[in-house]
Amino acid sequence: MSSIAKSVILIDYVEEGLVGPEHFNITESTVPELTASGGIRVELAGISPDPFLRGRIKKPVGSASTLETIRPGFPMVGFVVGKVTAVIDNSNWAVGDIFGAYLPFVTVQNLGPEDLKARLLWKLTGKLTEDRLNLGLGIYGMPGSTAYGGLIDVLRPIKGKGEVIFISAASGAVGSLVGMIAKNVYGCKVIGSCGGPEKCALITSKFGFDHAIDYKKINNKDELKAALKDVAPDGIDMYFENVGGMHFEAAYESLRVKGRIAVCGGISGYNDAVTPPVSVNIMSMIYSFNRIEGFISWPWLSGAQGNFLEDMHGFVQAGHVLPNETVFRGIESFGEAFQSLFTGKNTGKVVVMF
Ligand SMILES: NC(=O)c1ccc[n+]([C@@H]2O[C@H](COP(=O)([O-])OP(=O)(O)OC[C@H]3O[C@@H](n4cnc5c(N)ncnc54)[C@H](OP(=O)(O)O)[C@@H]3O)[C@@H](O)[C@H]2O)c1
Repeated sequence: MSSIAKSVILIDYVEEGLVGPEHFNITESTVPELTASGGIRVELAGISPDPFLRGRIKKPVGSASTLETIRPGFPMVGFVVGKVTAVIDNSNWAVGDIFGAYLPFVTVQNLGPEDLKARLLWKLTGKLTEDRLNLGLGIYGMPGSTAYGGLIDVLRPIKGKGEVIFISAASGAVGSLVGMIAKNVYGCKVIGSCGGPEKCALITSKFGFDHAIDYKKINNKDELKAALKDVAPDGIDMYFENVGGMHFEAAYESLRVKGRIAVCGGISGYNDAVTPPVSVNIMSMIYSFNRIEGFISWPWLSGAQGNFLEDMHGFVQAGHVLPNETVFRGIESFGEAFQSLFTGKNTGKVVVMF
């Protein structure tokens, strides 16, 4: 049987400035019956507005990204959660299976054997219940794998040593998970930076951070360094970078010997046409043996590195990480949901559920 699908279509590239509902159309199309042997039909339950999509909707330059190109007039491509609704001769999938995936934002799709080979899908059956599918976009999805890989394999906290970690965008999807895992699994002292008193109260009272810094009250790198020194007089061992700018510079200059920085993102520059550079004196890295390392979530999400899904499931069951979400309803709310990432209206993972 054919079905009607809804899609989120990018109207045109947006080089700079705040993106919102005016930059996307929601269209309808007919999806034919599934006929391909080895194929599956999927119905999405939700789509994920993520900060990296801001870079994806700028005109591509050179070959800087290996991710699928997003083009004006075509569906957005990103992270989704959904269910399998039909299967033909495919022993890996069954009707009713729950999955996370990197797919076009099209609510109903047929995936043939070639699509299944080329695309990243991960099975969540048995980990998520029907009423909590949204977790497939957060804790059990790309942000979860980012927090897991970035903390455990890039920053490499030493369990039980009481190392000090500083995290920016700390009330958000990735930052809040990094903080909870660092605190509850590795026994770190955890300092978070976020915007406004409500978010600061949230990360200390609900997520167990030891200290919160309201960066909106801070004007420059030196003030941020002073705020860090107040709560970590001997400096920090690790910095999980989500924001860029003064956050990076203050954290870098607050590192102790053998300090580490995981460069995860720099959202403060995403609405600029060209990301503003930060300034560091690399000579100070030599005698302090510091390390700065960038990474993307893909190896942990795909299972090529670590044991993300099983370990994260264990953390959830042990109560080490708590869900933290802002839920928008209906595919039509994608533009508004995406915008909230850049205005700070969200706490935790922003999800669009249908
Ligand atoms: N490397 C990877 O594979 C990977 C994967 C996922 C995410 N990331 C990166 O990780 C970061 C966090 O992503 P997320 O999904 O967890 O988003 P998020 O933290 O849930 O949402 C974004 C948050 O960023 C903060 N923000 C926005 N503009 C800002 C600015 N100008 N200065 C300071 N803070 C600002 C806002 O919080 P406040 O209200 O506190 O300002 C907002 O809530 C992003 O940089 C993203 O690109 C990287």
